[in-house]
Amino acid sequence: MSSLHKAHIKKLIYGGYGLSQLKDKTLMVEYALPGEEVEVDIIQEKRDYAIGRAIKVLEASQDRRDAPCPYYGTCGGCQLQHMDYKAQIKAKEEILLETLERIGKLQIDKLEKSLYGEEFGYRIKAQFKVAQERIGFYERRSHKLVEIEECLLLYPSINQLIPSLREFVKRLRNLQEIEVIYSPTEDEFLLKAISTEEIPKEKLRKVAETSLPKKVVGVGLYKESKLYHIGRDFVFVKIGPYLYRLSMDSFIQVNYKLWEKFIEFAVPKSYYDKVLELHCGIGFFTLPLAKRSSFVNAYDSNGRAIRDAEYNAKINSIDNVSFMQEKSSIALRKHAGDIFDLIFLDPPRSGLSEGEAQFILKNKPKSIVYVSCEPTTLARDLKVLIKGSYKLSTLCMVDNFPNTYHIEAIAHLEVV
Ligand SMILES: C[S@@+](CC[C@H](N)C(=O)[O-])C[C@H]1O[C@@H](n2cnc3c(N)ncnc32)[C@H](O)[C@@H]1O
Repeated sequence: MSSLHKAHIKKLIYGGYGLSQLKDKTLMVEYALPGEEVEVDIIQEKRDYAIGRAIKVLEASQDRRDAPCPYYGTCGGCQLQHMDYKAQIKAKEEILLETLERIGKLQIDKLEKSLYGEEFGYRIKAQFKVAQERIGFYERRSHKLVEIEECLLLYPSINQLIPSLREFVKRLRNLQEIEVIYSPTEDEFLLKAISTEEIPKEKLRKVAETSLPKKVVGVGLYKESKLYHIGRDFVFVKIGPYLYRLSMDSFIQVNYKLWEKFIEFAVPKSYYDKVLELHCGIGFFTLPLAKRSSFVNAYDSNGRAIRDAEYNAKINSIDNVSFMQEKSSIALRKHAGDIFDLIFLDPPRSGLSEGEAQFILKNKPKSIVYVSCEPTTLARDLKVLIKGSYKLSTLCMVDNFPNTYHIEAIAHLEVV
């Protein structure tokens, strides 16, 4: 049952909520901005906090704008489209600093200049949900599908593919999800079709050939795990001077507009002798790192990504790097006692385990680069590393995900 309340919004917090108070509880309000007076519909109440949604703005912030997307407010993909883009950057910088202070107990006076670009058309990957042959995204906190004609965050070519995807879904049935991966430099697509049923390979091939354009160079069928693929299971992407093979099961940074700058910001300018990289993916950072080092030992737990990375080193004539499929914890144990100048980390949202942080401290590299897509785990891990005799030399916010609440950051640390 919902109820209405007036609320004053103190600030924006992680998740894209406006922070307020409801009697003795913290109130987190969707679609509200700092300084605003809003009428809030309470949609969830827990013991010590409540979640509400601003349904009427009584006093609007100067940073409020009409969301450019017609699905905003229904579709759950974006949380910040009602906020001017420059104000989003400022809010994310404050949230990053505040999270590091609250969880990491780190007082940071100043961030480096943030990295950001265009706020729309930046995503080269989309995970479309499918329901009764309709394509779209889920509503916020729900599995209810919002059918869409286009998504403003996506590279325009992905939007142009949507009518063909509808045809594909209609003829195959049983699909739950379609993931699209697009190479903006080669103008080619890969599709990952996630199905509730097995689909015979010949049937999938026929439907793909007759409903999808030639630019879709490969389709994979997944039911829990990958069953098979037709066509190619990789595309190539050009990033700066490097060519990368990207398989459908490997990771790629989704914001292609920031690719080169992201590498420039993350990879230090110094020259290193020995480097250990623990979450290398297809070698996105590894190839540029290898250019500035004598040797890089790079690891990733995903075997497919490692095969891509090995291939990528070869086609870019880089031979001072070794790639191995291994979990970061095992790689660290394997290299206990080895001397590295730099350890480069780019973990998933869960961040490092306590054991991994301790191994890094024992190894004591001169420098650490920590690329993070989750400020809360970054804060937790920096606290351990800084207590263990590192100092933060620079911290930079990277807006890889404009109009959503997600925050990416790069921390450069030096041994004290
Ligand atoms: C955020 S992605 C970064 C990949 C790469 N640095 C890039 O920028 O493209 C995180 C990577 O960590 C890998 N990964 C996840 N858990 C891991 C673990 N426990 N040990 C090693 N790699 C892991 C994933 O396979 C993925 O490639």
